[in-house]
Amino acid sequence: MKLDIQNLTMSFGENTVLDSVSVSLRNIHSLVLIGPSGGGKTTLLRILAGLEEPDSGLITINEHQLNCTEQELLNYRRRIGMVYQAYNLFPHLTALENIVLPLVQVQGMQKKAAEDQALSLLERFNLAEHAFKHPVALSGGQQQRIAICRAVAIKPEFLLLDEPTSALDPEYTSEVLDLIEELREEGMELILVTHEMGFAHKAADYILFISDGGISAQGTPQEIFEKKDNPRVERFLNKVLKYNN
Ligand SMILES: Nc1ncnc2c1ncn2[C@@H]1O[C@H](COP(=O)(O)OP(=O)(O)OP(=O)(O)O)[C@@H](O)[C@H]1O
Ligand SMILES: [Mg+2]
Repeated sequence: MKLDIQNLTMSFGENTVLDSVSVSLRNIHSLVLIGPSGGGKTTLLRILAGLEEPDSGLITINEHQLNCTEQELLNYRRRIGMVYQAYNLFPHLTALENIVLPLVQVQGMQKKAAEDQALSLLERFNLAEHAFKHPVALSGGQQQRIAICRAVAIKPEFLLLDEPTSALDPEYTSEVLDLIEELREEGMELILVTHEMGFAHKAADYILFISDGGISAQGTPQEIFEKKDNPRVERFLNKVLKYNN
């Protein structure tokens, strides 16, 4: 993907979360956002998803200019996939119905075609046995994998994920990360916020470290994790990785 951000500023009241942020990236397939809590990762992701309007700044992502009319923004949102921390499945619908719903209501597909597409997606990711279960009968990891299937069912131009494993019991984390890794290997472009540093290291083409009002460090995983030349990043990594070995 191609991402250009120019002088992006976003405040909540007195709190300026992103202060004149600029970055220009080319040929990135998986962009990972890391950084301390409250640093602005979710805010940036929501702006990139067209869900939040910044105070000022210009953003172009692939060919989409994000400072546009409400109608264009609506069309843009239809073409991207979004996965949240908590799985957000509709509790009264089965796994299959959860995936079918946006295909029919947002993409305008016929119900039968949508069901076929949803089922083949569930099969591909070894979730077919859960198609007719309601979320309450599924583990957290299963629910989150269904939520990811729902996001990719619309064949989005890219996928945005905000800490997709942080609400899960640790035992379910790897099955969700495996699914994201599989999608990445298939060529799905993604922007991911995560606290899973091992996964960031493995799966990121490029990393943005978001803190103190903007991008305090950026680079390839090697540059971020191995160079150790940025004290702000160092402090963060030491804290996050403290009990990881
Ligand atoms: N809707 C909102 N209204 C007011 N303040 C907000 C809102 N959303 C975010 N903030 C504030 O903006 C700052 C950045 O929040 P954000 O959620 O983007 O951080 P984050 O990096 O995603 O943190 P975490 O790792 O805890 O998810 C925080 O100080 C937060 O309190
Ligand atoms: Mg967040």
